[in-house]
Amino acid sequence: MSDIVQKINILKKEKKALVLAHTYQRPEIYDIADFVGDSLELSKQATQAKNDIIVLCGVYFMAETASILNPQKKILIPDLKAGCPMADMITVEKLKEFKSKFKKPIVVSYVNTSAAVKAESDICCTSSNAVNVVKKVVENFDKNTDIIFTPDRNLGRYIQKVSGIKINIWNGFCPTHNNFILPEYVKTAKNKYPKAEVLAHPECRPEVLDLADYTLSTGGMCEHIKKSPSEEFIICTETGILHKLKKDNPSGNFYPATELSVCPNMKKITLAKVYDVLVNMKNIIFVQDNIRKRAYSPILKMLKINA
Ligand code: 13P
Ligand code: SF4
Repeated sequence: MSDIVQKINILKKEKKALVLAHTYQRPEIYDIADFVGDSLELSKQATQAKNDIIVLCGVYFMAETASILNPQKKILIPDLKAGCPMADMITVEKLKEFKSKFKKPIVVSYVNTSAAVKAESDICCTSSNAVNVVKKVVENFDKNTDIIFTPDRNLGRYIQKVSGIKINIWNGFCPTHNNFILPEYVKTAKNKYPKAEVLAHPECRPEVLDLADYTLSTGGMCEHIKKSPSEEFIICTETGILHKLKKDNPSGNFYPATELSVCPNMKKITLAKVYDVLVNMKNIIFVQDNIRKRAYSPILKMLKINA
């Protein structure tokens, strides 16, 4: 065990801190994490945890969501600049303007949004429950309601295709999935590994999803692989997940559609930064009370639907 890992483990014990990590984190972050999972699992873990201090190794909106759900806990993020460019593609002003175009808008926002945008939304979703959330919204509202989905156009189009429900989609996207995972790479990988199952994250372009056998969140991919009879998989998402897949399924063969699909923000989190925030108790997430209170309800509604 390296020196810094030992030091972090000692500090975690002393401070009774819990470390939660997203699946896209660096392999060495997995070694100090108490739990590794997708964005929905991380928000659930943060809420169920008894610890007063949580270090969230992921991007800002994930730590912010944990803080909104648990204002009494100290949520620390190792790098305050670990943002999500897709979340930045929608602002409160832009959302208000978009809403004003509809008579009875209901806003479904992906958790990849700021607290302020969540506060302007009716319900949140993650990639693992998005279709379910939109179906529930339709069940509960009359047919004159216009559903707005923000910010990911690829996830929005996927929901629309699977559910058959018409939604008004904001034109945002994830640069890592949309710009780097291209259909030609998936076709090449399929030719090379014809027996492999193709698993794609819904943030990928529709042309990529059309080539996939399954469209799944990162948590969904991990679960699917455990049950699949296949031993080979082409993975269309951020490459960090390959570490978890190999760790959980040592006999499986996993091929990234491309090595280029790396989220630079996820990779900003390092062991040195985790150590630093734990020693100095810094980078504690603070969400203004008026925003936090309004953002809490759409997240809670989502958690109830999923349960
Ligand atoms: P998951 O909901 O699958 O964890 O995805 C979050 C994310 O940021 C994907 O790019
Ligand atoms: Fe945001 Fe994409 Fe990075 Fe996920 S992979 S955090 S959506 S930029």
